[in-house]
Amino acid sequence: MTDLTPLEARAEIETLTAEIETLTAKIKAHDDAYYQNDAPTISDGDYDGLRHRLLALEAAFPDLVRDDSPSRRVGAAPQSGFGKVTHAVPMLSLGNAFGEDDFREFVDGVRRFLKELADDPTIPLEMVAEPKIDGLSISLRYEKGVLVQGATRGDGATGEDVTANIRSLKELPQKLAAGVPDVLEVRGEVYMAKHDFMALNQRQEKDGKKPFANPRNAAAGSLRQLDTAVTAVRPLSFFIYALGEVSDAIADTHWGVIEKLKGWGFPVNPLAELCADTQSALAFYERLNETRAGLAYDIDGIVYKVNRSDWQARLGFVSRAPRWAIARKFPAEKAMTVVNDIIIQVGRTGTLTPVARLEPVTVGGVVVSNATLHNEDEIARKDVRVGDWVIVQRAGDVIPQVLEVQLGKRPKNSKPYKFPDTCPDCGSHAVREEGEVAKRCTGGLVCPAQALERMKHFVSRETFDIEGLGGKHIEAFMADGLIKTPADIFRLSEHETAIAGRDGWGDKSARNLIESINERRTISLDRFIFSLGIRQVGQATAKLLARQYGSLRAWRDAMIAAKIHGSEAFADLTNIDGIGPSMAKDLIAFFDESHNLEALGDLQSQLDIHDFIAPDVGASPVAGKTVVFTGSLETMSRGEAKVRAEAMGAKVAGSVSKKTDYVVVGSDAGSKARRAAELGVTVLTEQQWLEIAAKAD
Ligand code: IVH
Repeated sequence: MTDLTPLEARAEIETLTAEIETLTAKIKAHDDAYYQNDAPTISDGDYDGLRHRLLALEAAFPDLVRDDSPSRRVGAAPQSGFGKVTHAVPMLSLGNAFGEDDFREFVDGVRRFLKELADDPTIPLEMVAEPKIDGLSISLRYEKGVLVQGATRGDGATGEDVTANIRSLKELPQKLAAGVPDVLEVRGEVYMAKHDFMALNQRQEKDGKKPFANPRNAAAGSLRQLDTAVTAVRPLSFFIYALGEVSDAIADTHWGVIEKLKGWGFPVNPLAELCADTQSALAFYERLNETRAGLAYDIDGIVYKVNRSDWQARLGFVSRAPRWAIARKFPAEKAMTVVNDIIIQVGRTGTLTPVARLEPVTVGGVVVSNATLHNEDEIARKDVRVGDWVIVQRAGDVIPQVLEVQLGKRPKNSKPYKFPDTCPDCGSHAVREEGEVAKRCTGGLVCPAQALERMKHFVSRETFDIEGLGGKHIEAFMADGLIKTPADIFRLSEHETAIAGRDGWGDKSARNLIESINERRTISLDRFIFSLGIRQVGQATAKLLARQYGSLRAWRDAMIAAKIHGSEAFADLTNIDGIGPSMAKDLIAFFDESHNLEALGDLQSQLDIHDFIAPDVGASPVAGKTVVFTGSLETMSRGEAKVRAEAMGAKVAGSVSKKTDYVVVGSDAGSKARRAAELGVTVLTEQQWLEIAAKAD
């Protein structure tokens, strides 16, 4: 443009203005034909072409954007962000395997779970192997063949409505041919190809904007744009690899599903392969690992999926990942850099973690300036010192770690690192309990660092998920005494004016924050339990507790009663399959602290905590009943028996007590069957149990 004379520039602008006007009119006419009259007059591809051209021009010449531009109509997203979408079927993540052993373990686990495979090693376990695309997952919903919604994954249960942005994806079928299920949700990965990423970053730099760290970030930043016009000019691609809600089953294997999707016009990864056995699955990994550098896009591993849909259904899920799939990651990327400092981070339960502050270095496309040194023993074993040259390694989204020291480059006067005996934050003693690797601050409730981390955990995505309240805000609010306990967050509305007056805030952002806090006053019991940040109580344990006790009151009363060793409440707690004595100890310790009970009561007054909702099990006769499986069963593994019982609303316990309703005995059942007889608990054969299960189906 700089080469143009003023006259030429003027002519150019007039031409562009005219083109934009014509495009606007054409798109409007096609929109009316499509939406109002249900009778499109051009192909989806041609329509996309028009929109694409318009949005590209608008992005390049923002001054020329017309008030009646179609981009304003769809792009006029609410200022507060994207709308929310509740996923009809949750969007899950995947378990990771790092190396061949992990992968084999996954296969063995599947074979153990599906009893017929455990019994007969000659039955092959077919798997589909697909490249693991390093992008962000999306869900596309079609109703009667028409795209109605595009959503990001979000926390898996609720994502963001990015429909307007999704429509600008080049390969997106807007309308599907007849014959597809009425409701069809397809899922996949949006990504940016490597060359597109490089070109985008060059443009960013030329325009004086910050370049993106890697193609994944660029893809996420481009899709999650409130301004649709920006998304439209960013070169995004996608692959579909899974289903969400569907009104009719599509195929009885994953491979079959993929073929169908391909036939319907969705881009599916051409490298995917159906592997007849473990051997070919392993070979696929080796092949891709060799050739991946030459691919047009980044992949960070291979995803393996059990092919048979009925087996997938039986295998089900463990917390947030399917039991029928796994991601085998490629080996980590490495780089060398200098340790500038070693600091100690205090976790929410007091764990002291040494962290190396590094001279920033790019590891596999990502700038790394911190790496974990794990714990006291590890730092001593590797003898990492300030000033050392070290090899750092980064695998996927796992925290980078220091692998080893380059002893030959060690500065002469360096001194071994001495792990502190006190908490760097509150000065309390740091102790290491027997058998533990972690040193822990004993400051508990008085340690500000622990309080800060607990609070960050409390508002994080998996717990209260309060939008707009990040770690930095929490830190600042705590430093100024605006919040001291978690319940204070729900009283922040009293300080709205004060917040609005703070640096970096304003009336609008303060209002938005209060609104997003108010939106989160309702929470499920399991999420609430997890939010408390009790030691060892992760998401899966929180779910177990919620399922067992049902309501906050019942749980709290039981935890207080369990303090008495040998009490029935203690036995009930440790009887829950998945809760051991050490976890029980931490739970009891939490409830033994009067501060915690006060904080709980305070939270209760601010919140609406929903009782655990048992899965919809119809008229299952076993819902709410406690069952113990013992001995080896005939038709299913104990693992599968447990999962199926839980799906019917039953609780599965590890040992027999007066509270047990049924003991299901297989062959060679031992002491548990005897104990059931002693206590007069109903004993069922596997056959009888299956009959009950059949009634529930
Ligand atoms: S399947 C229920 N297949 O990896 C199964 N995921 O680390 C859900 N991903 O959230 C995922 N390529 O965003 C699947 N071929 C592929 C994938 C893939 C990339 C992503 C996806 C998922 C994440 C888990």
